[in-house]
Amino acid sequence: MATKPADTPDVQGAAAPVYRTSPTAVEALDAHLKDHPEDLPVHTQEWDVSRSDIYVEDRWQPIFAEMRSKDPINKVTGSPYGDYWNVTSHKAIQHVEALPEIFSSSWKNGGITILDRHDDTVEDQRFELPMFIAMDRPEHTGQRRTVAPAFTPAEMTRLADDLRARTGEVLDSLPYGETFDWVEKVSIELTTQMLAILFDFPWKDRHLLSFWSDWAGDTEVALIPGLDEMRHTILMEMAAYFTQLWQERANAGEAPDLISRMIHSEAMNAMSPQEYMGNLVLLIVGGNDTTRNTMSGIVHAMDAFPDQRALFESDPSVIPNAVQECIRYQTPLAHMRRTATEDTDLFGHQVKAGEKLVLWYLSANRDETVFDNPDTLDFTRENARRHLAFGYGIHRCVGARLAELQLRILLEEMHARRMRVKVVGKVERVRANFVHGFRKLEVQLEKF
Ligand code: HEM
Repeated sequence: MATKPADTPDVQGAAAPVYRTSPTAVEALDAHLKDHPEDLPVHTQEWDVSRSDIYVEDRWQPIFAEMRSKDPINKVTGSPYGDYWNVTSHKAIQHVEALPEIFSSSWKNGGITILDRHDDTVEDQRFELPMFIAMDRPEHTGQRRTVAPAFTPAEMTRLADDLRARTGEVLDSLPYGETFDWVEKVSIELTTQMLAILFDFPWKDRHLLSFWSDWAGDTEVALIPGLDEMRHTILMEMAAYFTQLWQERANAGEAPDLISRMIHSEAMNAMSPQEYMGNLVLLIVGGNDTTRNTMSGIVHAMDAFPDQRALFESDPSVIPNAVQECIRYQTPLAHMRRTATEDTDLFGHQVKAGEKLVLWYLSANRDETVFDNPDTLDFTRENARRHLAFGYGIHRCVGARLAELQLRILLEEMHARRMRVKVVGKVERVRANFVHGFRKLEVQLEKF
């Protein structure tokens, strides 16, 4: 859960601070469902894996395993998210992603999550933002090209010292022999700091980034009209804040932070305010929930597989592959969605133009035809890098190198401090079919 920011923004003239009195997205959803349990979507079909209870209760594994063995591409009709195709095997997902002309990401066709961008039930109340993850070629190409230089190996080297120093500070601030929430104290804090460094965002307001991201990226909140309005207000406020930053950076010279890069690039400096905002939300949400939940996943997985924790402790040379394996094992985004632009055959299934396909990365990364013993964490796994957690093809995660760097630094700095993290208390997971992660992870530290 994001911490609510207490301070007034640094940026003068930003809109009235709604966020100071607003609950986080998770708090708002919890409160709403307590009073209106009837608003929880009803799912009746066995293979309707859009149901969030299987993720919050961590019992999705056998359902996807059954689909992979019986019918890896299958159609669900009449779910609360409408009709959709489940695409569950590694091979089929790569195939779909390699054909972006036939399988569109465009928001005009429905976007990149199972939630339809133009859902009749809540139409006009939704705050829609165009972003390049939800664009097809050629628009996608130019906008991605603008952002990509922020993630080159040279840029990673430039950012590494700062990230390492900040990571060390956070780890050094943690208590030993006391129970605390790893999600709040480490995963959220470090990810927020990473994004603030990337955007050169006003440091004392950095917690706004995770607060906004939670509201922007929650597919469950968007299904409930009352909460969707609150989301709109909060995102408008984010828009005001970033518009102010945009103006400040436009008046300053070129700089390597992402906002300046966007302003001073040809492909992006003519963006409409909605496009500018959409791409910022993309970078914040894209980098936030994903990295955060992998940081929690690492600790949870090492606790569940003590032999792998022992290996990490005795041989830090496994760290780079351990990062890949932890990303595979956690898969912090459960799915991406595509929409067919024409009638087509998909491994013997007749997919019609306009139909939606949900690519379940969570399932591909447990595909037993690619990964031996896929439900086991194995830091020596030779093909861990073949995971699809970053997607595949033209939309493959542009921030992957930054995420890998931050995760590697976290493991290296934990190792340097001989820090062992044990899960001792509550483990709460996110109630969502899109973000796959942890809300709470109560741990204690000891030295190894
Ligand atoms: C473990 C961490 C991360 C995971 C698992 C992850 C996952 C993904 C996935 C699945 C996609 C879509 C790929 C596809 O459609 O084929 C994506 C795209 C993207 N990600 Fe990440 N991501 C992570 C970290 C980051 C970070 C740190 C950033 C930036 C700060 C970022 C920014 C983006 C952007 C901008 C896109 C859109 C790329 C495009 O459409 O061309 N991600 N990511």
